[in-house]
Amino acid sequence: MPDSASVDTYAVKKEQWSSRFTFILAATGSAVGLGNIWKFPYITGENGGGAFVLIYLFCIAAIGIPIMMAEIMLGRRGGHDPVTTMKLLAKESGHSSSWGILGWLGVIAGFLILSYYSVIAGWALAYVPMMSLGNFSGLDAQEVNAVFGELVSNPITLMIWHSLFIIMTMFVVARGVRGGLEKAVTYLMPLLFMLLIILILYAIGTGAFQQGLSYLFNPDFSKITTEGVLSAMGHAFFTLSLGMGAIMVYGSYLPKKTSIAQASIAVAMMDTLVALLAGMVIFPIVFANGLEPGAGPGLIFKTLPLAFGNMSYGTLFGTLFFILLVFAAWTSSISLIEPAVTWSMKTFQLSRIKTSVILGLLVWLMGLMTVFSFNLASDFTISTSISTQYGEFVILKDATAFDFLDYLTSNIMLPLGGLMIAIYAGWLMKKEFSAEELKINPLWFSIWLFLVRYIAPLMVIIVFLNALGIVAFVRHIIN
Ligand code: TRP
Repeated sequence: MPDSASVDTYAVKKEQWSSRFTFILAATGSAVGLGNIWKFPYITGENGGGAFVLIYLFCIAAIGIPIMMAEIMLGRRGGHDPVTTMKLLAKESGHSSSWGILGWLGVIAGFLILSYYSVIAGWALAYVPMMSLGNFSGLDAQEVNAVFGELVSNPITLMIWHSLFIIMTMFVVARGVRGGLEKAVTYLMPLLFMLLIILILYAIGTGAFQQGLSYLFNPDFSKITTEGVLSAMGHAFFTLSLGMGAIMVYGSYLPKKTSIAQASIAVAMMDTLVALLAGMVIFPIVFANGLEPGAGPGLIFKTLPLAFGNMSYGTLFGTLFFILLVFAAWTSSISLIEPAVTWSMKTFQLSRIKTSVILGLLVWLMGLMTVFSFNLASDFTISTSISTQYGEFVILKDATAFDFLDYLTSNIMLPLGGLMIAIYAGWLMKKEFSAEELKINPLWFSIWLFLVRYIAPLMVIIVFLNALGIVAFVRHIIN
């Protein structure tokens, strides 16, 4: 291997987070993003509330945390981009270098996710000037709806905001992630948190707080479908940034002495807290204004402006909120593309700047699919189902390009990546290596091992099969 190709990766290996705290912040910066504030409330609304939330929380605890530990552990031990890391680790434990495919899958998944993520982050960007000009002051629910509808129906406007967000992301990535990123998250995360608390006070004032809470926390299992379980699981991966090597790359900068278990639990807890707070803000506003919880991807863009438009200092808080949402999305988007960047630099021997420009252009192009799926191509949908003599198993129904990309990445690629991580860390990596990395007491180690060996893989597999209707199918045959 020529030297120039490896310089950066070795530099990366030597580079380390300044402290355990900064790693936790950066991983939290990656985890906390649109997934918590935009996606969690809207998919909770689409899936009927409490029961979905409960399954999601269970997935975070039983699958998310153990797999996060596994992914960080692999990253720290491998110390490179995800593809190289997996190849090196496979060699170390005497397995096939085909494990590099896991890294590949991640590079592609991150690329696809960023293509639509940046369009949604573009909506948040667009809301910053709209908020600060007081466009929402005194509007009722219908009028706010119309403003949102106007934004997404205009492909040019969406394209401009999408472009701006891609430029912001690639700008930071081109300069190297560490310097700016650590600082940004240190200040921005606590601020975002504070604003959510202020919004909760507003939500309490709506008079429908109780109703919002019971929607979020009172499980009604009759509302759960197999697709709902699949999205709860997919979202656990999405929200914790798992299954595609982002946290693996971050883990590669982690000092040896840091406890992976404690860091993972801290990140997962903060991430979950932000999502639940967002839900506690949004649903009371939904119910107080007779809005539809299942309104889909536009949910927070319709509810929050309503709150801000009708509270004192709403223009100020509203502007601030969408700025912070953009920052939350920013610290996440960087981690979505970082695996692709480190990998391309090494493979094509390009500088970080060139790589960022090229990948930025490619992601931007790909993102146009999502841009148009909300307007010009909104009628272009696909439906997939497996039909057998025992019935029809719906996989996708009237999915736009955006729905399809989201489904493919969150519900299939991330759980698949997570499954492979769990299998590698649990079954193939030598136990002495994993024990050496995790350094937790033997009881906790056995619990972790049990979770990554059996529980996490089995759950992923069962949910997959179930979503494909295969379980129902088999049950039918047996009866
Ligand atoms: N977790 C982020 C969010 O919730 C999105 C994200 C960043 C992500 N990096 C990732 C999702 C890696 C999957 C994989 O908004």
